[in-house]
Amino acid sequence: MLAFRRVLITGASSGIGAALARTLAKPGAVLHLSGRDRGRLSAVAEACRVAGAEVAPAMLDVRDAAAMAQWIAGTGGLDLVLANAGVSAGGGAAGWETAAQVRGIFATNLTGVLNTVLPALALMIEQPPDGRGVRGRIGVVASLAAFAPPIGAPSYCASKSAIDTWTVGTAWAARRRGVYLTSLCPGFIATPMTASNPFPMPGMLSADQAATLMLRGIARGKRRVLFPRSTRILTQLSRFVPHSLSVAIMTRIGIKVAAEGGVFGEEAD
Ligand SMILES: NC(=O)c1ccc[n+]([C@@H]2O[C@H](COP(=O)([O-])OP(=O)(O)OC[C@H]3O[C@@H](n4cnc5c(N)ncnc54)[C@H](OP(=O)(O)O)[C@@H]3O)[C@@H](O)[C@H]2O)c1
Repeated sequence: MLAFRRVLITGASSGIGAALARTLAKPGAVLHLSGRDRGRLSAVAEACRVAGAEVAPAMLDVRDAAAMAQWIAGTGGLDLVLANAGVSAGGGAAGWETAAQVRGIFATNLTGVLNTVLPALALMIEQPPDGRGVRGRIGVVASLAAFAPPIGAPSYCASKSAIDTWTVGTAWAARRRGVYLTSLCPGFIATPMTASNPFPMPGMLSADQAATLMLRGIARGKRRVLFPRSTRILTQLSRFVPHSLSVAIMTRIGIKVAAEGGVFGEEAD
């Protein structure tokens, strides 16, 4: 696999972001890691230092566009950026999201990712290319939820669809400018985000497994990486299922709101 030397990761204080940081931590690596929880971010930074990496942690909110632009420009150069920070509406897939949840999910999963990727693109396009003509690589953590019926977690699914579509669409033009963009679409991963989900999560992988698959896809120059295969196939098949049947299946496996009625029950298909 390619060795990534200068790396920036958002949401490195937990779950997949922390696993990406630990996987990339080795002598010679310089890791710029951000998050909002000081204690958890410091613990990840320390583990990466023990593995031999130079680490620069930063307490940052991805929703702060000016701070993100300043942080990224201030790194002086990056080989790999991982726009990973994201939020869901919380365990249990309540289905009916409050206005604050809807705004918060889009602000982090869509605007927050753009606050990371746009300054990274601007920085990388000005960098000299390596021997393969690559100026930099950017991995955007979307989700297989981008392709799933948006039942139970509509804002999460919609935010991931939007960022996946934007990433894959931009990848063509970015590549002509020497920057490789990859949309990373995992299924269920065992992290704090999924810890309180009360429904079955088929094909669940560990955060370390997810990090390895993501970095392999990025190194191979893929525009989109979907995994695991079993969940990917289920998700792709679900596109052909009528909405009312999807609701019935989701209700049966424990997505509560449909069973409680009201929100989806009134929809005609
Ligand atoms: N777990 C899954 O099954 C799964 C599946 C597909 C995709 N994903 C995606 O993978 C990414 C990582 O999720 P995870 O499962 O590792 O969840 P997680 O353990 O809850 O970690 C989320 C990370 O995002 C950071 N974050 C959230 N909002 C932020 C903000 N406004 N500014 C800065 N950082 C912020 C958190 O930082 P603090 O805790 O320090 O605030 C934390 O480091 C997300 O984009 C998620 O949507 C997860």
